Amino acid sequence: MRNNIVKLYIKNEDIQEKIKDIAENISIDYKDKNPVLVCNLKGAFRFLSDLCKYIKIPITIDFIAFTSYTGISRNGDRVRIVKDLKSDIKNRDVIIIEDIIDTGFTCDFIIKYMLEMQNASSANICSLLDKKSARQIDVSVKYIGFDVENKFLVGYGLDYNEKYRELNDIMILK
Ligand code: IMP
Ligand code: MG
Repeated sequence: MRNNIVKLYIKNEDIQEKIKDIAENISIDYKDKNPVLVCNLKGAFRFLSDLCKYIKIPITIDFIAFTSYTGISRNGDRVRIVKDLKSDIKNRDVIIIEDIIDTGFTCDFIIKYMLEMQNASSANICSLLDKKSARQIDVSVKYIGFDVENKFLVGYGLDYNEKYRELNDIMILK
């Protein structure tokens, strides 16, 4: 039905296998730490949901949402919070759950926000996809699912103008 608009890029089965590996590593690295998994909405909602199925340690879950500007806003920020955390993450170990890292500005902002504004004791990024060739600012990423080409991807939570999030596979938008 949508074959003229999107092309299969990563199958859901392959996504699930990769998520199991990431969950295993998180379960080892964060044993006894009760980490807070902060899902960056909306793109990462399916990734968070599947990741939880395979994590074997106690975790706390929270959600945050940002808008990013193509330009720079008046106060110099490229990213603005539209939905803040509900829990107090002071002195907690935070894992930021992201769908895709592109320029890196969002992740850079979120890490600083968790550490400097919310006083988390640590903040690491876990992203399903990484478009390394599009990076404009250096960010260190602890867990990555797949390195991807610099193409526009949709499905499995990722959207184009709020469309295609419901697709189970990751697709290239033609
Ligand atoms: P960054 O700040 O440039 O790293 O942008 C990250 C955000 O841009 C992600 O959380 C996505 O919401 C969005 N984004 C970047 N590339 C894509 C893509 O290929 N498909 C869908 N959303 C994308
Ligand atoms: Mg996003």
